[in-house]
Amino acid sequence: MSDITIPTIALTVQPGDRVFDAESGLTLLEALRRAGVLTHACDGGAGCTDACHVFVTEGRKSLSKTTREENERLDAIVGVGAKSRLACRAVLGDQPVTVEIPSFA
Ligand code: FES
Repeated sequence: MSDITIPTIALTVQPGDRVFDAESGLTLLEALRRAGVLTHACDGGAGCTDACHVFVTEGRKSLSKTTREENERLDAIVGVGAKSRLACRAVLGDQPVTVEIPSFA
């Protein structure tokens, strides 16, 4: 029997102020999938680009850093801002995170 406990963080999703437990180390996309918030076809292969775009309104520093590749993909999306991330590229850290799903997602 194992006593390994995977740390979780509070993942708040807007609109709706829904709060889920999400495992640290998951991508934001996987956490949102498990919560039933996002469904997705490209599995992070970056072929879908804007379908996993979210705004991280709180806890941004807890996520993995944005890579140049992610920034280049974000540049191709209409409506991105300073809080934009691709959910498939952002890995959850150890602090609570709040995301806003764009209304066109
Ligand atoms: S899941 Fe396809 S680009 Fe993020």
